[in-house]
Amino acid sequence: MEIVRRVHSMKETARQLRAKSRKIGFVPTMGALHEGHLALVHRVKELADVTVVSILVNPTQFGPGEDFERYPRDLAGDADVLIAEGVDYLFAPDPPDVYPEGPRTYVEVQDLSTRLEGASRPGHFRGVTTVVLKLFEIVHPTVAAFGQKDAQQAVIIQRMVEDLMLDVEILVLPTVRDSDGLAKSSRNAYLSEAERAAARAVPRALELGESLVAEGERDAEIVVRKVRARLEEEALIRVDYVALVDSRHLEPPVEIAGETFLLVAVFVGRTRLLDNVLIRV
Ligand code: PAJ
Repeated sequence: MEIVRRVHSMKETARQLRAKSRKIGFVPTMGALHEGHLALVHRVKELADVTVVSILVNPTQFGPGEDFERYPRDLAGDADVLIAEGVDYLFAPDPPDVYPEGPRTYVEVQDLSTRLEGASRPGHFRGVTTVVLKLFEIVHPTVAAFGQKDAQQAVIIQRMVEDLMLDVEILVLPTVRDSDGLAKSSRNAYLSEAERAAARAVPRALELGESLVAEGERDAEIVVRKVRARLEEEALIRVDYVALVDSRHLEPPVEIAGETFLLVAVFVGRTRLLDNVLIRV
């Protein structure tokens, strides 16, 4: 595996690969890699000739007072994992190389970016779409994979690609979970033992929501209220939001129909966790 630290070298490498008609598969990440990330890598490897993984803790998607400084970083450990996975290129630029004069030009998907996560974290998605567009310009992927774990992010990126007519195929792959149901996340590393135990209520509350709908409940407000109540039984959990939204516009339905995301954001202690399930009626 080649580790590429500079934007100009990655651009040159991508240019040469494209000139040889190689299909480039791409998985953008912020590192502290876990099996959720690796599931994306596996799928992309199957579809592409060359696999590129990027690691960049992207400053523009963190708000003031968020965890940018303490976000886990382990480039050497991550590189070992990616070598074992047979990845071809690890692109790991430093933020100043990606934003040489600081951030200035942004791309933003309106409406979708200001709801849910966007309401709780103003500016977050503008940072995500901007860095993903920049990474696409640097890596020139044929196909890029994202996780349903960050459902709103995946919807927004798909919409950016559609609206800007970008030449890249976007895959959205299912959430990888620990054996107790908790979604794998780099931020799980922040949890104490007691918080880790409390966090199990998140997948359980989502299962409750799924089974309510499976049993015939179609009133979105009732499902949201019961899921929230289940989460609030945990003393260590503070609910940020519970929402049911349609999978394209992320708007709350009155009656549950079609493809609907049940989305949850909670604080367990100081740690903010996200999870969701896609419900098909
Ligand atoms: P990061 O949180 O590192 O996640 C990188 C990719 O892995 C995202 O597409 C995310 O949805 C996916 N992922 C995370 N946990 C997962 C799990 N348990 N199962 C399946 N996929 C999972 O998301 C970001 O980084 C950044 O916002 C980024 C897109 C890289 C832009 O900076």
